Amino acid sequence: MFESKGGVLLIGGLGFFLLAFLANGVVPILLYRHIPEKTAEEVVNRRILYQFEELSRRYPESFEAAFGEVSVQTCAEALRLGRQVYISEGCWHCHSQYVRPVSNESRRWGDVSRSEEYQNELQRPVLFGTRRVGPDLSREGSRHSNDWHAVHFFQPTLVSPDSPMPRYQWLFDGSPDRPNRRGLALITYIQWLGSWLDSYPYYEDLQELEQEDF
Ligand code: HEC
Repeated sequence: MFESKGGVLLIGGLGFFLLAFLANGVVPILLYRHIPEKTAEEVVNRRILYQFEELSRRYPESFEAAFGEVSVQTCAEALRLGRQVYISEGCWHCHSQYVRPVSNESRRWGDVSRSEEYQNELQRPVLFGTRRVGPDLSREGSRHSNDWHAVHFFQPTLVSPDSPMPRYQWLFDGSPDRPNRRGLALITYIQWLGSWLDSYPYYEDLQELEQEDF
């Protein structure tokens, strides 16, 4: 078999396939087998509850109709739905959720992604994405306000003039100040991204929430 070039390439190809399978599949499974995967309820934290509560104050009628009241359960429900909307609208065609340890990506987007960040229900399957027509979103939470996102999803060019991002007007009952259940869920999901990190912007201002027992 090793007499021919084709044979060498075949063995080499299979070898590298096996190596990739071990390094990217078997090793991570073994590394994290002791850490249980978190549920959506378990990844709800004070920072995302703050945003969720802000949505309830900003769009009281829509929020009430969509989720009722602010609680860990309704927030988890919004996160699950928001992720489904993110997938079904194809956001992942243009956005990645992985800050790579190369090309100074951390200078643009924040901390390099760590594998344990993906150990939860909302990352099954992971939404690394394949292309970056738009920016990476893994630290997107709190970079913009809830109403900025609402306007941006309604018509991106209103806040980002040359944006090639499509409009998502079916996430609203008419105007950008009336996001519907799916719209509110998507905003919640986007604001959640990176909320598990202390680098979540403006967290200093949110310290008083420590007192509240959500
Ligand atoms: C055709 C590619 C494309 C698709 C599909 C797309 N986006 Fe974008 N997105 C972009 C581009 C380009 C930008 C940068 C310009 C801008 O701000 O609109 C962007 C910007 C953003 C931003 C602001 C990032 C920042 O901090 O500046 C968010 C949040 C976002 N997109 C979320 C989404 C969500 C959620 C979806 C799905 C509902 C989506 N995008 C679908 C291309 C896309």
